[in-house]
Amino acid sequence: RIPIVMDFDTGTDDAIALITALQHRDILDIRAVSAVAGNVPLEATAANTRNIVDMLGHDDIIVAKGADKPLKRELHCAISHGKTGLGNVTVPDSGRAYYEKDAADAIYEAALEFPGELVVLATGPQTNLALSIQRYPDIVKLIRKVYIMGGCLVGGNMTQASEFNAYVDPEALQILFRSGVDVTMVGLDVTLQTELPMWVKDKIAAINTPEAQLAVQVFEFMLIRNKEFGYDVANLHDVVAFCAIVHPEVLKLKRYYVDVETEGTITRGMTVADFRDVCPDHEKNVDCAEDIDLDAFWEWFVKVFEERGTV
Ligand code: BDR
Ligand code: CA
Repeated sequence: RIPIVMDFDTGTDDAIALITALQHRDILDIRAVSAVAGNVPLEATAANTRNIVDMLGHDDIIVAKGADKPLKRELHCAISHGKTGLGNVTVPDSGRAYYEKDAADAIYEAALEFPGELVVLATGPQTNLALSIQRYPDIVKLIRKVYIMGGCLVGGNMTQASEFNAYVDPEALQILFRSGVDVTMVGLDVTLQTELPMWVKDKIAAINTPEAQLAVQVFEFMLIRNKEFGYDVANLHDVVAFCAIVHPEVLKLKRYYVDVETEGTITRGMTVADFRDVCPDHEKNVDCAEDIDLDAFWEWFVKVFEERGTV
């Protein structure tokens, strides 16, 4: 099994990624799940994360709280996830105590336990990973790979230049990109293509597992909420980054040297890739998702719910 720590700012599409991931315990050794401030403040992302883990019967998994704000900036939350992060979806409050260590320490602990093997999935601002790298520089050699939902090769959703997670904590993403850790970046280039098709929603709605039923409630909220903002679709951004770990065939990846803008006025959080190899002194550091086989992606996603359930 792959040793993994997963860091979320749960969040609707984070919730879907988490629910999907929890159905893979036969192949994933989930060492910890952690939360960061992002879509909504930390208290809410942490509670949402823990409550979903517990509701689906995984209260043996460590849930660690992480940073309550970006490294150097005020927290900027999203509006599309509602006030609680899960909109009108209610998940019972389990009240379980969080791990005694914070997320940055929990990630390092797992890295020490599985040197050279640990995989990290991070689908919110990169604050927790950056703190871990700052506190424990040797973690860089211990982590096998970090998969992030964040950034974009072209364009943005927060501003014309930047994606939400990268915009919220650009300094953290820069620490990650410059650290020497091997990163796979699953950005808007592919995640904006994953507009939940109705046939997928209907198929999952027909499955009588707690995972499927919870996912469908989240889908419903995403669709209603997005309609209020004038678009009729739900993008499952974060689950694509998870898919890159267990079913990478659906993505076309290309490795570039990538850095992130922290100084710019209109480019805060812009992820900048060296498409034409004009920076030969910089090693290529990021596998970037450039395209996605949507049919294969949705087929995989539905199958997770149809065939896996609680494993
Ligand atoms: C990212 O921003 C958040 O709102 C989503 O959860 C996703 O991680 C997309 O830009
Ligand atoms: Ca997220």
